[in-house]
Amino acid sequence: MIPDIGKPLDRVDGRRKTSGGARYAAEHNLPNISYGALVMSAIPAGTIKSIDAGAALKSPGVIAVISHLNAPKLNAPQTPSQGQQQAAGMSGNLAEPRNIPFQSNAIHYTGQRIAIVVADTLEHAIHGAELVKVSYNPANARTDMQKFRGEAFDRAKSAFSKGDADAAFASAPVKVDQTYRTPHEHHNPMEAHSLVAAWNGDHLTIYDSSQNIFAVQRTFAQLFGIPKENVHVMSPFVGGAFGSKGSTWPHVVAGVIASRVVGRPVKVVVTRRELFFANGHRPETEQRVALGANSDGKLVALIHEGASQSNDVCDYAERFVRPTRAIYAAANIRGINPVVSLNLPSPTYMRAPGENPGMFAIESAMDELAVALNMDPVQLRLVNHADVDPVEGKPWSSKSLKQCYQQAADRFGWSKRNPEPKSMRNGRNLIGWGMASATYPAHRSPASARATMKSDGTVVVASGTHEMGMGTATVMRQLAAETLGIPAERVTFEYGDTTLPQAPISAGSMTAASVGSAVFGAATELRKKIAALDGVDPSTLTADSYHAILARHYLDHVDTQFDAKPPEEEPYTTQAFGAHFVEVSVDEEIPVVKVQRIVSAFAGGRILNEKTARSQYLGGITQGIGMALLEQTHLDKRYGTYTNVNFAEYLVPVNPDIRSIDVILVPEEDQHVNPIGAKGIGEIGIVGVAPAIANAVYHATGKRIRDLPITIEKLM
Ligand code: MOS
Repeated sequence: MIPDIGKPLDRVDGRRKTSGGARYAAEHNLPNISYGALVMSAIPAGTIKSIDAGAALKSPGVIAVISHLNAPKLNAPQTPSQGQQQAAGMSGNLAEPRNIPFQSNAIHYTGQRIAIVVADTLEHAIHGAELVKVSYNPANARTDMQKFRGEAFDRAKSAFSKGDADAAFASAPVKVDQTYRTPHEHHNPMEAHSLVAAWNGDHLTIYDSSQNIFAVQRTFAQLFGIPKENVHVMSPFVGGAFGSKGSTWPHVVAGVIASRVVGRPVKVVVTRRELFFANGHRPETEQRVALGANSDGKLVALIHEGASQSNDVCDYAERFVRPTRAIYAAANIRGINPVVSLNLPSPTYMRAPGENPGMFAIESAMDELAVALNMDPVQLRLVNHADVDPVEGKPWSSKSLKQCYQQAADRFGWSKRNPEPKSMRNGRNLIGWGMASATYPAHRSPASARATMKSDGTVVVASGTHEMGMGTATVMRQLAAETLGIPAERVTFEYGDTTLPQAPISAGSMTAASVGSAVFGAATELRKKIAALDGVDPSTLTADSYHAILARHYLDHVDTQFDAKPPEEEPYTTQAFGAHFVEVSVDEEIPVVKVQRIVSAFAGGRILNEKTARSQYLGGITQGIGMALLEQTHLDKRYGTYTNVNFAEYLVPVNPDIRSIDVILVPEEDQHVNPIGAKGIGEIGIVGVAPAIANAVYHATGKRIRDLPITIEKLM
């Protein structure tokens, strides 16, 4: 049987993951391996005065204590411009290009990796790290975004405008002008960051839990001044990432330095607590959204500005005005997302960076506008539907947002909603219904794939991409099988290794589109190449033709490599859309919010596997419920430190928090977005969940919560 693309094939890696057969980075035990434990800065700003490693070095099993006092000097990192990065598929590199471990005594934030202790066992390394005595020259630390808000600057060059939004807002008959806040949040993948590094002369091998192995390869070639071919990076199974493993973080550099110094393989496993300090987070944002509308609901002005936390050592800016460009057809639009540089850990991409916090603000404000206009929130969105890209004016490659509203609203029963707040209840619980739109761009980067047909008719497809739970390995197998017209069981997909053809960072929801286009191209070429051997039309080949042709020509195998690239000029704006409808219940006495049900519809182009796609959406929505109600990393501004750095106090949704989630896959054909017609679905699921819940909470209680998460005390 030939599986069609889209069929809900089981995950090819599912059995190994659930039976313990999957080996993650830190499970690679090389001969003579040693263990590294990190020492973190206890202060947020200043310099290291001294490091006393005496006791640590005398402690059992300790091999070395490495810090800026004795570490090898590395080459300064190259920092390619954003344009160069994109052209080379080079997004995501050193997370902190201005803080290479052990190169200086400067302290930029609490938790900075300042030394690594290497020992013969993990326990000896941890014990040794506890014995390292560090003294500091502290400096005044900037830890409070509010206090330094006036110093915000537009690091990402995010400012854009269409028309005169401020003038239009001033004269608009109906206005909403509010400030929304989102807190620090941490990705917390189940598998914390980890690596095994081993040197052999000037050859480096790394097993890294990474979303971006080719960038890791380039980074170490550059830092150590060795050819890129000398650096072999593998990212086998990855136990979740969500953006936190898209960059080379200091612990990776520390582990590689340590292995170089001790001349043995070194394993570094970041602890849950350590993960909170130097592996990235979604930074705090403060966002003003000002909406001006006519009395019919048509937006005349959309202003979106504010700030997010960043620091001096990273280049990250939370681009919360990205969705502002795309979501509504306002006549006048202005957006900017500056950063405030503080002595706090480096922020980074976290599932739907930009879009997710940005849409919390926009979609909350749209709900407030619907209330001000006494208009149905769906109707308000339809009135402002963007038929073309609102800022660029380009046509969409495809767009099915209206179908998303319609289908999700119908299944939810939205037409029965009484718009009056506090009008619906179930016993002592207030019931609220809210909705919000979702959107995320359909990106694509250059990617290559190789396809090899063996004489037995089996096929190996290879591309150095990553599988961190999205279903990549499964859908690539399906794509190749369908393109060749053979059963999926005959196809193996190899990934996670820099000796394979190049693939981009697995982020920005672009793996299916980028790597999928390469796999599709390679399989198409392979089919042609084999058909040409017999001089037949490729379309005439069947599942049984292949090995017969190879046998006739005495061939052990036939292979092709295909380099897929997005077009230089893009006449269309490519974007996925969706909509969430949420029912919450709120206990009237102790205002605990429960999300009773969510109906969400998404149009993400062609769906490659219904099962893994649904799973991506479910994961995004679940993470969105966490963002709305639970997730927040608490910052003690006195010390610039996070305080709830464990799973007991950093709350994420668990089974009782998740009730009914109903996902509708709206069929959508897109002839333009890329050769396979898939837009990418990894991130859009989370976008819009938090505002849909906040809007439902308003409908239930009459209380508008503009700062996440929506906790009991904010509703008291
Ligand atoms: Mo994602 S935050 O682009 O891994």
